[in-house]
Amino acid sequence: MRKPVIVSVVNHKGGVLKTTTTANLGAGLARKGSRVLVCDLDPQQNLTVSLIGRVPYDENTPTLYDALMEEGGLDHLIRPTSTKYLDILPSSEDFFAAELSLAPREAREFVFRTCCEQTTALKAYDFVLIDNSPSVSLVTVNSLIASDYFLVPVSAEYLPLTGLVMLGDSIGRIQHKLAPSLRSLGVVITLFHRSETICRRVERELERELGDMLFRTRIRVNTKAKTAPSVMKTIFEYEDSPQGRGTEDYTQLADEVVERVASFESATSLEPAAHA
Ligand SMILES: Nc1ncnc2c1ncn2[C@@H]1O[C@H](COP(=O)(O)OP(=O)(O)OP(=O)(O)O)[C@@H](O)[C@H]1O
Ligand SMILES: [Mg+2]
Repeated sequence: MRKPVIVSVVNHKGGVLKTTTTANLGAGLARKGSRVLVCDLDPQQNLTVSLIGRVPYDENTPTLYDALMEEGGLDHLIRPTSTKYLDILPSSEDFFAAELSLAPREAREFVFRTCCEQTTALKAYDFVLIDNSPSVSLVTVNSLIASDYFLVPVSAEYLPLTGLVMLGDSIGRIQHKLAPSLRSLGVVITLFHRSETICRRVERELERELGDMLFRTRIRVNTKAKTAPSVMKTIFEYEDSPQGRGTEDYTQLADEVVERVASFESATSLEPAAHA
C-alpha cells in the first residue's frame, strides 16, 4: 500500500458527520495499528476543538494559514492527540482568511499539495484524513488535489441523491481538469435509524444507485457521539466499551476502509501488467 493514503472527507451539505467521521474513522484506524494524521481544513475548527481543544491564536506562533501562504512544510504544526498513533494538523483562528488569500495566487489549487510534499513527517503515516468545510470551496479543492481518495458521508434524510449528484458533478470537473488520479473511496450513510421509514427508503435508493460504492457500514444515530467532542474524546474513549454503538460502527467503517483501499491499490498495481 502506498504511504500515506490521503483521503478527503467531503460533502457540501452541512451536518452530515464529516468532522465526526474524520475523527472517529481516524481513531478506528489508529486502534488497528495504523499511523494516522487527521487534518482540519475547515475554518470552523470543529475537528481541532473536538480532539485537542481550541488552539489560541498568537500572531508570533506559526499557523496552518501561514504554512499555506509560504507553501512550506507542515511538520512543525502536527500535534499528538490522546489516542495512540493518532495525530492532528490543527486549524487556526486565522484560517478563515485562506480562501480569499489563495484566490489570486498562481496554481492556487495546488498549494496544500505542495505543503504536503514538503512535510517530512507525512511519510510516517499510513493514512491522512482531511476534514473539510461544508462547501466545495478553493480550500476544499486544495484538499481534493492533495488526496488519493475522497469519502462522502451522507445523512439518511430526504433527497440525498440530488445533493450527491451535484457533488459528483463538482468533483468530476476537478478530477477531469486537475486531479485525474483522484478516486472515490465510497459513500457512507450516517445518522441512520433503522426503525425510521425515511432512513430505510434512503438506504434502498442509495444501494440501488451506488452499488458497491456504498459502504456496508451505517453510522447510527447516537447521542453519545454528540457529547464526546465536548470533552475532547473520540467515540472509542467516550463509550469505553466494545459494544458501544459508535465504537461498533466506526470499527466496522475502519475495517471496510482498509479492505477497500487494499483492493483498489492492488487493482491499480496490476494495471501496467494488464496492458503489457
Ligand atoms: N452518530 C451520531 N448521532 C447523532 N448526532 C451525531 C452523531 N455523530 C455526531 N453527531 C452530531 O451531529 C452534529 C453534526 O456532526 P458533524 O459536526 O460531524 O457534521 P459536519 O458534517 O462536520 O458538519 P459541518 O458541515 O458543519 O462541518 C454534531 O453536533 C455532532 O455532535
Ligand atoms: Mg465539520
